[in-house]
Amino acid sequence: MPCEVVVGGFFGDEGKGKIISYLALRDKPAVIARAGVGTNAGHTVVINGKLFKLRQIPSGFAYEKARLLIGPGVLVNPEVFFKEIEETNCKDRVGIDYQCGVIERKHIEEDKGSSHLHGKIGSTGSGCGPANAERALRRLKIAKDIPELQPYLTDVPLEINEALDRGEGVLIEGTQGTYLSLYHGTYPFVTSKDVCAAAACSDVGIGPTKVDDVIVVFKAYVTRVGSGPLEGELPEEEAKKRGWLEIATVTGRKRRSAPFNFKLAKRAVMLNGATQIALTKIDIVFPETRGVTKYDELPAETKKFIEKIEHETGVPVTLIGTGPEINAMIDRRDEIELK
Ligand code: GTP
Ligand code: IMP
Ligand code: MG
Repeated sequence: MPCEVVVGGFFGDEGKGKIISYLALRDKPAVIARAGVGTNAGHTVVINGKLFKLRQIPSGFAYEKARLLIGPGVLVNPEVFFKEIEETNCKDRVGIDYQCGVIERKHIEEDKGSSHLHGKIGSTGSGCGPANAERALRRLKIAKDIPELQPYLTDVPLEINEALDRGEGVLIEGTQGTYLSLYHGTYPFVTSKDVCAAAACSDVGIGPTKVDDVIVVFKAYVTRVGSGPLEGELPEEEAKKRGWLEIATVTGRKRRSAPFNFKLAKRAVMLNGATQIALTKIDIVFPETRGVTKYDELPAETKKFIEKIEHETGVPVTLIGTGPEINAMIDRRDEIELK
């Protein structure tokens, strides 16, 4: 795996945290870099029964030898950063780019107090929107202005490109999802920047020619938290009955849900230039698949669903999540001839 980018294909919360931690442990990349907006994201990682909810530190921290980096396009909230380096015990191998924008208390207050952002759009209240707005105005503080962050500062694009030049593996983590992109999403019900694969590369400072694979992550059904259109949305009662009613990691809000959307999936593959699909939570839609690790052991109905996704999008489903734990995964990457 020289350079892989992982992004969300729907509205975030597709289970990228789990896919990334699985890839980190399996492929052992030298560098794992976080792209995306900032602390609005909440990635869930379950390792040996222990639950981590990460808003800042790369979800690939589970692979203990990887250097963990946060790219200059990503907003940093120092309070969240320090809390998470304690929780993940990764103080000695984490680096933030000099130019990461910094979220301050005033941005959080503005976000939470805004009837437009928090009220109409349903923002996470994490201060990301107001901080990115201030960055566009070129007034936002950046990491190199903050004394407590000094020990962690580094040139992230240089570190990543040098690792690639040495032929080492690099894993890039996107956050949110394609349809929350400021450019490609359901505007104005979107986040404060582009979050597709090209933006993830820009966030960490690598050019498009350096990427070998783009893995787009879809959940076996669609969820959305906050406002905006959701085709085929189920009433809450029905969602609960099917086990699709989820609670958001960052805000504790209920996630809205709908059946898998093939049209959105096809377009997400196009917008991200995806070469592989990771499909999560099939155990929720097909409970008999819980914990299965071999494709051949899946029921015919589940295989038909997966084949339909491959047929409609033209891209192979290489990873299939069958439970929240890292190893509840069917990995078909060796079996499917890629590209
Ligand atoms: P964002 O960056 O916020 O979009 O987050 P995310 O894509 O990392 O997803 P998040 O962790 O917010 O939500 C996914 C949820 O699904 C978490 O509770 C995971 O533990 C869980 N999960 C991930 N994969 C699977 C799976 O294959 N099966 C089951 N049952 N749960 C899964
Ligand atoms: P903001 O990014 O906090 O400004 O929120 C803008 C919109 O994106 C709202 O609908 C949020 O619910 C949604 N959003 C932002 N980050 C995430 C995420 O990580 N997962 C799911 N939805 C998100
Ligand atoms: Mg999430």
